[in-house]
Amino acid sequence: MEPSIPEWVIRLCEAGGRAPSADNSQPWRFVWDGEELRLTVDEVRAQGLGQDHPALFLALGAVIENIIQAVQAAGLPLACVRMSDGSGHPREFLRVSVPPDRPLIPRVPALLERHTHRGDFSKAPLPASVRARLGAMEEPPARAMILEDRAVIRQLARLIERASEARFRNQELHRWFAQSLRYGHEADKGDGLAVDTLHLPPGGALLLRWTADWKHMAALNRFGAYKLFGGLEAAKVRRCGAIIAIIGSTRSQASMIASGRLMERMWLQLNADGVAVHPFFGLTDQVIRWRRGWLPAALREQAARIAKETAALLGLGDEEVLIVLRAGMARKSPKRSRRLPLSEVLAVVAPA
Ligand SMILES: Cc1cc2nc3c(=O)[nH]c(=O)nc-3n(C[C@H](O)[C@H](O)[C@H](O)COP(=O)(O)O)c2cc1C
Repeated sequence: MEPSIPEWVIRLCEAGGRAPSADNSQPWRFVWDGEELRLTVDEVRAQGLGQDHPALFLALGAVIENIIQAVQAAGLPLACVRMSDGSGHPREFLRVSVPPDRPLIPRVPALLERHTHRGDFSKAPLPASVRARLGAMEEPPARAMILEDRAVIRQLARLIERASEARFRNQELHRWFAQSLRYGHEADKGDGLAVDTLHLPPGGALLLRWTADWKHMAALNRFGAYKLFGGLEAAKVRRCGAIIAIIGSTRSQASMIASGRLMERMWLQLNADGVAVHPFFGLTDQVIRWRRGWLPAALREQAARIAKETAALLGLGDEEVLIVLRAGMARKSPKRSRRLPLSEVLAVVAPA
């Protein structure tokens, strides 16, 4: 018989499930067996990212961070949480068990309200207190670089622009992006990228729908449309108070998960301090696709150069940029993304 679901399990799934994920793919699955809550991978939702893609581990790291913060907010000992290495089938990363005389796990507003903001930011520097809080955050082996020098930000924006241009010239990546878009009420299902969260200019949604067909995108690309899209992305990157580059290694699963935890901790803190956050993953994506031999021949050389120039700009040796966050003050509130219903992300199974 399937066990009933206690409230603490629902609360932890709610907090964990508000984590960010690439194109809101939500590649996680929670499993409740009547004794323990487990965090595993939903291999179907993870599939679109590509096998063992850093985006998967960044998202899982963010879920882990949210769950640990929720457990701490309830005053529960950290011994309630046991991390695992992703072995087994399904791949498992975390187990939580809570004593029967548990306190109620509260809803933690900061965890539920973190969000992506793709609108306009000012270039005002981050307040010193915010900067100090970020500077004190650690999650080895991952680390963060807080970039405030405008010349460095401009150079990084140019690298992100070139990565973005390459993305719009890649049919496979274009298909994945187009499939993740949700127009109007399509977003009610709770997954994917709701077009109204993209803060597009007038006519932008129509153009996006039209260019979702690769034939149209390829035709426009003959007139340099990919340059226009890349340029729009770079303009956003430049408009910020600071850039936070999360640094780790895509050769180590532990490093990618630590990167996800650090990204989420900083993002939560920034939002709690009233600072808007917008992640950019295109640069990492191009580099990892090049390293793993997933890029079409025409795009390989460009990706290799982006990898080399990024490492030189940031003084990286063996490490890589896992994700870039632009942070800054925004005047308008953003549209919030949705999430899949609990029934789609939580599996209830009989005790082992
Ligand atoms: C690994 C990863 C990569 C992401 N890449 C981008 C990106 O390149 N551009 C962007 O606008 N948002 C990006 N996002 C943000 C997600 O689209 C966003 O988290 C998701 O749609 C859920 O929305 P929320 O953050 O408001 O909860 C990324 C998030 C993660 C975790």
